[in-house]
Amino acid sequence: MTLIAQISDLHVQSTGALAYGVVDTNSLVEAAIAHLNQLNPQPDLVVATGDLVQQGTLADYQQLRELLTNLRAPIYLMPGNHDQGANLRQAFADHHYLASSTDHLSYVVEDYPIRLIMLDNTLLGEKSGKLDAQRLAWLEAQLVRAPATPTLVFMHHPPFTTGIPWMDRRRLEGRDALAALIAQHRQVERVSCGHLHRVMYCRWAGTIASTQPSLVHQGFLNLQPDAASQFVMEPPAYQLHLWGNGNLVSHTVFVGNFDGPYRYSDGKKAAEPTHPAKTISGSP
Ligand SMILES: [Fe+2]
Repeated sequence: MTLIAQISDLHVQSTGALAYGVVDTNSLVEAAIAHLNQLNPQPDLVVATGDLVQQGTLADYQQLRELLTNLRAPIYLMPGNHDQGANLRQAFADHHYLASSTDHLSYVVEDYPIRLIMLDNTLLGEKSGKLDAQRLAWLEAQLVRAPATPTLVFMHHPPFTTGIPWMDRRRLEGRDALAALIAQHRQVERVSCGHLHRVMYCRWAGTIASTQPSLVHQGFLNLQPDAASQFVMEPPAYQLHLWGNGNLVSHTVFVGNFDGPYRYSDGKKAAEPTHPAKTISGSP
């Protein structure tokens, strides 16, 4: 069994300012790290799928580094459109995997029963993502090398249309070529992305593609064609991908203090209460 925590879109700021004048990202990330540390069992590893910081300055990454010193599980980082690769590499120079490619921060984690391909699809200074011929060739080389090993591909920008118009205005360049490549490699269990600050799943290129919630603010669900880009302070969340028995199951975990857990009862006799002392009749 391998347990992978995926966190995304942390938007840490060295200034401590509120992101967009609203979001205390540093405190929310700190709370999420404390939440991850209390998981039992602990994740084997944590992957962070981009937008690690807000401005991409070296100071931002140093702030992130300070926050991550408290994290118990090993972490693997990848950039999003808010990141600056050179500063990320400099601040995390001891994360040697970040130096495995020269022109993009892609790498492979092969220490677990499921293989993780971290595919950098960001361009410096660009909000939209792009997979050019060089990155696609790199991905193909990695997939060809282990055709029988179950594989999870992580990226920042998702390759599919969401149905939320403002999210779909800037689409991932190179997505059709990526789909053709992924469709040839049945070992790909999932293509799991960040960027949209919202959980979505769809069938894509013969596998499942998904986006993840943010540890800070969430993308607002608005399907109206003229919807403006907006965020909402729905609860921060991350995902736990559980690989075992040839299956990948993903759990969304909300960060916060919520009532419960309550023990299910048959309604005839009081079940032994958990905390707080309440029960709910019915089945799961
Ligand atoms: Fe983000």
